[in-house]
Amino acid sequence: MQTTVTPFFHQATGTWSYVMSDPVTREAAVIDPVLDYDWRSGRTGTAAADALLAHLSAGALQLRWILETHAHADHLSSAPYLQARAGGQIAIGEGIRRVQVTFKRIFGLGDEFVPDGTQFDRLLTDGDTVAVGGIAGRVIATPGHTSDSVSYLFGDALFVGDTVFMPDGGSARCDFPGGDAAELYRSVQRLYALPADTRVFVCHDYSPGGRDPLCQTTIGAQRRSNIHLNADTTESEYVALRLARDATLDVPNLIIPSVQVNIRGGHLPAAESDGVSYLKVPLNVFGRPL
Ligand SMILES: [Fe+2]
Repeated sequence: MQTTVTPFFHQATGTWSYVMSDPVTREAAVIDPVLDYDWRSGRTGTAAADALLAHLSAGALQLRWILETHAHADHLSSAPYLQARAGGQIAIGEGIRRVQVTFKRIFGLGDEFVPDGTQFDRLLTDGDTVAVGGIAGRVIATPGHTSDSVSYLFGDALFVGDTVFMPDGGSARCDFPGGDAAELYRSVQRLYALPADTRVFVCHDYSPGGRDPLCQTTIGAQRRSNIHLNADTTESEYVALRLARDATLDVPNLIIPSVQVNIRGGHLPAAESDGVSYLKVPLNVFGRPL
């Protein structure tokens, strides 16, 4: 029986989160859940996460896994909030340790932050399996956008994180610390080797051309018509295109709060003596000089 996939769109960040489930056993995984965040007020919110919980509850789905495709730089994760209410294990690619080392330095974090991945319940390696009922999810390491990026293949449903977007959206940027366009090219070749009818679920859609947001395509469609990386694109062509495009992109709106929370497994920094949790803003580190 086919893996059931329900998409949830987070308008403010252009993020797609998913609930995938085994229709026989009614076990489920959530992929890339979002925590709402208002930059101006510094306030978090749970509307997006509550929609996921309502879906799990309405379908009597048992949450086994909360899967991150990578440490996101554009939205905060709600993984711990979901786990506290619905259970499941929080997992991410083992490359998160390198991401943690890098951003511990960039954000000037102290000894209280240990970059060893223990903020997550499980660190995943290429070829690992995450079981959801009778469906054995395969972990495919797909670094390039970040060094911890992984994709998840459940039956014919592939969750690609930030590798390729919809065919008319191209591919993910590779200019974050630890990003590498040639590495992303090689990761996408592994995905493109999957059967043409594999269903592809993307992590973001920014509505190119003003169309409605879309989340689902196929490997065949990507190979035919992805505007950055199709079956005929060479590595050097792709790297040149990616580097040129990345040079034009602004820093993501929420990179500063997102990274600090997401390298902690979605937890806010420990509250200080006044009971308030604080984020840090490294001045003149990200982006181009004004
Ligand atoms: Fe990302």
